[in-house]
Amino acid sequence: MTLQELKPEIKSIISQKNLSTDELLLKICETLETNIDYYNWVGFYFKNGDKDELKLGPYVGEPTDHTIIPFGKGICGQVALSNQNFIVADVAAQDNYIACSITVKAEIVIPIFVNGENIGQIDIDSNTPDPFTEADEGFLEFVCKEVSKLIS
Ligand code: SME
Repeated sequence: MTLQELKPEIKSIISQKNLSTDELLLKICETLETNIDYYNWVGFYFKNGDKDELKLGPYVGEPTDHTIIPFGKGICGQVALSNQNFIVADVAAQDNYIACSITVKAEIVIPIFVNGENIGQIDIDSNTPDPFTEADEGFLEFVCKEVSKLIS
């Protein structure tokens, strides 16, 4: 399935009123990981209450030790502070990077905004070198906007 074809799938997941937010987020992770071959770990991190740290939410892929990430640490922690998309073509070239698995070559993190506030992010790891383009960025911004509707 293409990124464009996945948009209605994401909208239909978001509209399922009988499931909890975490169940819906997990379905989004599963849909993305299953349909896009270079999305190999897909998860959500959210601001942990009033602490300056991220807490791991629903995800699919290898379990990670990094269930709490302080703001500023790693790619995720940097996005928590910058409010900007972060595409890493080659994780080995990053100083401030937290490795979850040796198979990961690239990463994309897109923040989620609710009422203008950065409340979390979607984080995707790829085992393929330099796979992410502006198309992924635009698509994942769409996903994050849909997710923000669940949280606002
Ligand atoms: N690589 C991330 C940590 C999260 S794992 O990819 C699941 C980072 O540098 O923030």
